[in-house]
Amino acid sequence: MVASGWDTDMAGFMSGKKVLVTGVLRDNSIAFHVARLLLEQDAEVILTSFGRQMKLTELSARRLPKPVPIVELDVTDADHLAALPEQVRQHTDTLDAVVHSIGFAPQSVMGGRFLEAEWPDVATAMEVSAFSLKSLATAALPLMPNGGALVGLTFDASFAWPVYDWMGVSKAAFEATARYLARDLGPKGVRVNLVSAGPIRTTAATSIPGFEEMEGRWSERAPLGWDVTDPEPTARGVVALCSDWFPATSGEIVHVDGGVHVMGQ
Ligand SMILES: NC(=O)c1ccc[n+]([C@@H]2O[C@H](COP(=O)([O-])OP(=O)(O)OC[C@H]3O[C@@H](n4cnc5c(N)ncnc54)[C@H](O)[C@@H]3O)[C@@H](O)[C@H]2O)c1
Repeated sequence: MVASGWDTDMAGFMSGKKVLVTGVLRDNSIAFHVARLLLEQDAEVILTSFGRQMKLTELSARRLPKPVPIVELDVTDADHLAALPEQVRQHTDTLDAVVHSIGFAPQSVMGGRFLEAEWPDVATAMEVSAFSLKSLATAALPLMPNGGALVGLTFDASFAWPVYDWMGVSKAAFEATARYLARDLGPKGVRVNLVSAGPIRTTAATSIPGFEEMEGRWSERAPLGWDVTDPEPTARGVVALCSDWFPATSGEIVHVDGGVHVMGQ
C-alpha cells in the first residue's frame, strides 16, 4: 500500500526543485554529474565557481543538458559568501537543496608527508574542505525559508588511508561539521547529509600525490564492484539525498562505495 500524500512517480522526480551545485570543474567532477542528473530530472540548477576556475566551469557547463547560470563563490571569501543570496536571487528566490562538492589541500599536506606538514597548509585544507560546509550552509540559509537539503561529499574519515593525510583529517572535521549542522539546522527544516564515495579519478583526486594507492584494490574488494572512472553512482546518491525521498534523515553518511566499508579486507 502506498502512503497517501507521497509522490511516487519517479519521472522528473526533481521537477520544480531549485538546487545550488558547487564544485563543477570538469566533466569528470562529481558535481558535474549531480548537475546533469538534476537537469535530467527537471530540476533548476545554479552552479558556483570562482577565479581562474570559472572558465573551466563555463566550458564544462556547456556540456550539461540545459544552459545554467553560474555565480561566483570562493567558499573562503567572506564577501562572496555575503553576496551569495543576492547573486542567487537574480535567478531564483528560494533554494530546495544545496550541494557542497568542494575539496582542496596543498600538496605539502598529502602524499605521505603527514609528520612534516605545517599548520598554515593544514589550516588551508581545513578551511576549504571542512569549515566551508558551515560557511556555505549559513550563506545559503536565507534562501531556504522552508527548509531543504544540504548534501556534501566525504571519503570515509574513520580510517587512516595511504597518502590522504591531512585531507583525511579535514574530512573527519567535515563529517563532524555535518553532524553539528544537522543539530542546528534541523529546527529550521534543513536536512544535512553526506555521501561517502569510493575513489573516482577527478581533478581533486588525481592531484593527491600517490592517489593510485588509495584506489588500491577497491574494485576487487567491493562486493558490488567499483569503477574509478564513473562518478554517476555517487552523483545519484547525492541527488537522492537532495530529493523529498529522505524526508526524515539528517546527520547521515550514506556510503556509495560498492560496499567496501563493510568488508574486513
Ligand atoms: N574523487 C574522489 O575520489 C572523491 C571521493 C570521495 C569524496 N570526494 C569529494 O568530492 C568532492 C568533489 O571533488 P571531485 O572529486 O569531484 O573533484 P573536482 O576537482 O572535480 O572538484 C573539486 C571542486 O572544489 C572546488 N573548490 C576548491 N576550492 C574551492 C574554494 N575555495 N571555493 C569554492 N570551490 C572550491 C573546485 O573548484 C572544484 O570544482 C570533494 O569534497 C572531494 O573531497 C571525492
